[in-house]
Amino acid sequence: MVRHFLRDDDLSPREQREVLELALAFRDDRFIRTPLAGPRAVALVFDKHSTRTRVSFSVGVAELGGYPLLLDSGTSQLERGEPIEDTARVLDRQCAAIVWRTSAQSRIDAMASASGVPVVNALTDEFHPCQVLADLMTVAQLRGGVGALAGKTLAYLGDGANNMAHSYLLGGATAGLHVRVAAPAGYLPDAAVLADAERIAAGTGGSVLVTHDPAVAVAGADVLATDTWVSMGHETTADARAEPFVPFQVNAASLAAAAPDAIVLHCLPAYRGKEITAEVLDGPQSAVWDEAENRLHAQKALLTWLLERA
Ligand code: CP
Ligand code: NVA
Repeated sequence: MVRHFLRDDDLSPREQREVLELALAFRDDRFIRTPLAGPRAVALVFDKHSTRTRVSFSVGVAELGGYPLLLDSGTSQLERGEPIEDTARVLDRQCAAIVWRTSAQSRIDAMASASGVPVVNALTDEFHPCQVLADLMTVAQLRGGVGALAGKTLAYLGDGANNMAHSYLLGGATAGLHVRVAAPAGYLPDAAVLADAERIAAGTGGSVLVTHDPAVAVAGADVLATDTWVSMGHETTADARAEPFVPFQVNAASLAAAAPDAIVLHCLPAYRGKEITAEVLDGPQSAVWDEAENRLHAQKALLTWLLERA
């Protein structure tokens, strides 16, 4: 049975640990495995802008011995209305895997439903699971390994309804983290995602908490995370978001309320002075450049793991 990675909980807790351990191994030696030797092609399809994801998947596929086939969907027939399922049937005859950044989760579900090769979510409106794999890897790298993830507290401040918040809830619960999301009214996580995260956390010893009070979220947290207040596709709502989000900025005060050795994460791109101050983003507790590098290692591990099961 071909395995896909469409949302964070497509990996069980044990499987997530396997991928994270392999990711740390790839970080130590970038060429330990070459499952795409041939080279076999991996389709990298982008409906939205990207720097990190495009680079890390391109470099990662090449380092796995494969050929990264970059498709800008604006110049493919997808843009002109060719069904997603037909696109999947064409790609899966020639590519070992399909990586897609798109809008609605239902679109990547449709791609996976018709694909005989693994489909990987490179960001949708609802989830950004590859990013959270890299984030978990970063915490493991800096704070005691994969085995030390369970029980740590991650506080996320900002848009609780976006892809990063949802992926922190699902991926964090899978890792046994205590995930706290602080967001303004009207920007809370999707209820079904929250319920799934609660169910997963009940099995891993983690927990999830959603609050309107950023002080409740950050108190003693081991990891402080945020993301842009205006995700791709929400640009027209930027003005309405500016004021309600101000109390949710990650700054010196929120960092001081977290654990003394707290790590700061941001998936990037960051908007200094909005969701995070320059002082914190560029400060000594920020791990954002390791986090960005770890996209490469985590995705190589994920692709290797999926290809071994395809
Ligand atoms: N963090 C992230 O996914 O960055 P890009 O949008 O640049 O790919
Ligand atoms: N939430 C952001 C993440 C960008 C990597 C967005 O969707 O634009």
